[in-house]
Amino acid sequence: MSETVDAARFPEGFIWGASTASYQIEGAVDEDGRAPSIWDTFSHTPGKVERGETGDTACDHYHRYAQDVGLMKTLGLDAYRFSIAWPRIIPEGTGEVNEPGLDFYDRLTDSLLEAGIEPWPCLYHWDLPDALHMAGKGWEDRACADAFADYANTVTARLGDRAKTWLTFNEPNVFSIFGYLIGYHAPGVSDHETFLDAVHTVNLAHGKACQVIRSNVPNARIGLAPNMQPVRPATPTIADREAARILDSYWNRAFAEPMVHGRYDPIMTKRLGDRIKPGDMETIRQPLDWFGVNYYSPLYAKAARNSTGMKMADPPLGADISLMGWHADPPSFTDALLDVSKRYPGLPIYITENGTADALPAGERDQNRIDYYTGHLNALLNAVDKGADVRGYLIWSLMDNFEWALGYRTRFGVIRCDFDTLERTPKASHDWLQALIAQSREPRVEEPPVSEFPASDIPDAAPADSEPD
Ligand code: FCB
Repeated sequence: MSETVDAARFPEGFIWGASTASYQIEGAVDEDGRAPSIWDTFSHTPGKVERGETGDTACDHYHRYAQDVGLMKTLGLDAYRFSIAWPRIIPEGTGEVNEPGLDFYDRLTDSLLEAGIEPWPCLYHWDLPDALHMAGKGWEDRACADAFADYANTVTARLGDRAKTWLTFNEPNVFSIFGYLIGYHAPGVSDHETFLDAVHTVNLAHGKACQVIRSNVPNARIGLAPNMQPVRPATPTIADREAARILDSYWNRAFAEPMVHGRYDPIMTKRLGDRIKPGDMETIRQPLDWFGVNYYSPLYAKAARNSTGMKMADPPLGADISLMGWHADPPSFTDALLDVSKRYPGLPIYITENGTADALPAGERDQNRIDYYTGHLNALLNAVDKGADVRGYLIWSLMDNFEWALGYRTRFGVIRCDFDTLERTPKASHDWLQALIAQSREPRVEEPPVSEFPASDIPDAAPADSEPD
């Protein structure tokens, strides 16, 4: 692989970071008052996660966070996006607050700040308190938006004096589609109407949480991390082109359009129907300070006779496919960033996830990850050259972790986590990234101006033997 990244091309003040999620790394699922989330129940249900793996221990970050912050510092990160586990804070979803849960995120925030790393807490990365789901009060229920706002209030009142950059949701599209439409993720529901209920509740929850953050956190910088993936028709037929339009609506527009513009696109407006009540769109549309983009690959759509009229299709033959089955295609990343810039102008963009998976044995060089980052960082820089206001790049992920329904088979980290010993070992991609980050911070050398004067007009430096004044 000969392609390289020119560190001098990154805009001045570019933020380098990493993202993780509570259920994927923390472990300690029944410690200090935490109650089960939908992911605990789902992963403990036979057949839901490969090999029956769970997040019970994961990377044990709950106990090893100080070591992990040290690793982030060595890597040279400016920012760290972590998510907060709602069932650690309000175990039943509503009602009593669990102080020891808040204490954990307090300690984490302080140790990040001590290391010179900006904390970017995300309020929801998929671990809904199971009690809410079991009572029928999860995302399918409008009232869940108020429960979420109360939880946001508790968390921001505690951390908002120190954490300024906040995210409401990670990939609302992925957890609503996978969790409520196709049942591949927790809570394992596959019902189109329930999915539509969840879409609207999540949007309301975002709006209400933004209001809470704004009032609790002085100088807050509010954003979120939606997954934005260009959708291509699997074939050029009219039917597949229509399927691509529908998938684009479900995947890319269902949340961003109402959150930024205060309206659903025509497909969603029709399908949501009278779920949309007077005043809802004003609640959902709150001022944002920046826009996050989680990006991995383009998507392919095919017409289908099901409740949505489409299904996801495989990438074309010959495409560079990762272990996840995702098409590694850097030009599509440039497209995604330019599309976001055009549709949601005026919002600085931060890449809140990007990376690739492998299943390499310990000690083997993860060249494929270096190549993926190289291609996608160049694609990002191309988008910047074409006018996209991209201010930072947070990798997925800091270390190998629990990859949802795939368990521990697929590794995304630049740091290896041995899931038996829990030992952390930086990979080749870590050292590569560390060097790139350091180079991007080197002072820019301006080309010296060409002198307009002939050399003879320039006074000589003082002769070596001259007396000092
Ligand atoms: C994203 C999720 C993240 C991780 C990566 C690989 O969809 O936000 O938690 O699983 O994919």
